Amino acid sequence: MKDFIAISDHTSGEIKNLLDLAVELKKEYFAGGNKPIFEGKVLGMIFQKPSLRTRVSFDMAMRHCGGDALYLSPNEIGLGKRESIADIARVLSGYVQILMARTFDHAHVVELAKWSDVPVINGLSDYNHPCQGMADALTIIEKFGVDSKGLTVSYVGDANNVAVSLMHVAAQMGWNFTIANPEGYDMDPKAVEIGDVIAKKTGSKFTFLRDPHDAVKGAHVIYTDTWTSMGQEEETARREKVFPPYQVNAKLVGEADKDVIVMHCLPAHRNQELTDEVADGSHSVIFPQAHNRLHAQKAILARVLGVA
Ligand code: CP
Ligand code: NVA
Repeated sequence: MKDFIAISDHTSGEIKNLLDLAVELKKEYFAGGNKPIFEGKVLGMIFQKPSLRTRVSFDMAMRHCGGDALYLSPNEIGLGKRESIADIARVLSGYVQILMARTFDHAHVVELAKWSDVPVINGLSDYNHPCQGMADALTIIEKFGVDSKGLTVSYVGDANNVAVSLMHVAAQMGWNFTIANPEGYDMDPKAVEIGDVIAKKTGSKFTFLRDPHDAVKGAHVIYTDTWTSMGQEEETARREKVFPPYQVNAKLVGEADKDVIVMHCLPAHRNQELTDEVADGSHSVIFPQAHNRLHAQKAILARVLGVA
């Protein structure tokens, strides 16, 4: 595993092994601390967009394991503007041992990995959010067990980057993936095609719906995300008119399985896509989910660095 750009780039076995490692590293961390497996390694973190969780959890993941991290802001790097991506990748490869990038265009993180001599991790692009998907899967197996084949994961809202990685990790795990989104905000057909290939191997079933009520029937997981992703800000007013029927509220949650968990990658726009009542209610796992970014990413870092 040189890079971690998409969950669909890896086999189902590799994804499950990564989750096993995340469980192990999480246990080790809470039992007194991680071993210094990243000693002498620095992670360069390229951000074209804002971040709380991704930035802090990657930085802490490196520090907990004896390494270090360096934040590179959009102004400093000017990815593809001040300097070509190919040149940036080759220069940074001589300074740091690993890179993480949050980009707008997915092709930019792919290009970075193509030219970089050191491993590259995708910290979110307009297409997907694979590190989030791994933390989501870790949260789901903590609740339902590793042997959770046949679980129904229902996503309600905008079929965005987070939804793509959730669909792909669901396929890898053999979970059924259902999505309800408004017309005009459908899942990227290429992502569905890629997911279908995995789903055929693992027995996962995809269902694409318009009605959120139909989507949550029997759901073990209800997942939602912002109606307007970073980079789509000028569409906010139009989206706020279309998405309200897709709000995850107590009524909708009451229509799912009685043990359903409610997930959100955060940041949440409270009382838009997710009500306060649900976000802070008994079904919500949004904070343990956010904390799992740390543990899932330690496993990704360790695998691409070849130290575990
Ligand atoms: N979920 C997530 O990636 O959060 P940030 O944008 O704060 O990193
Ligand atoms: N879909 C959101 C996720 C933020 C973590 C965005 O891309 O802005």
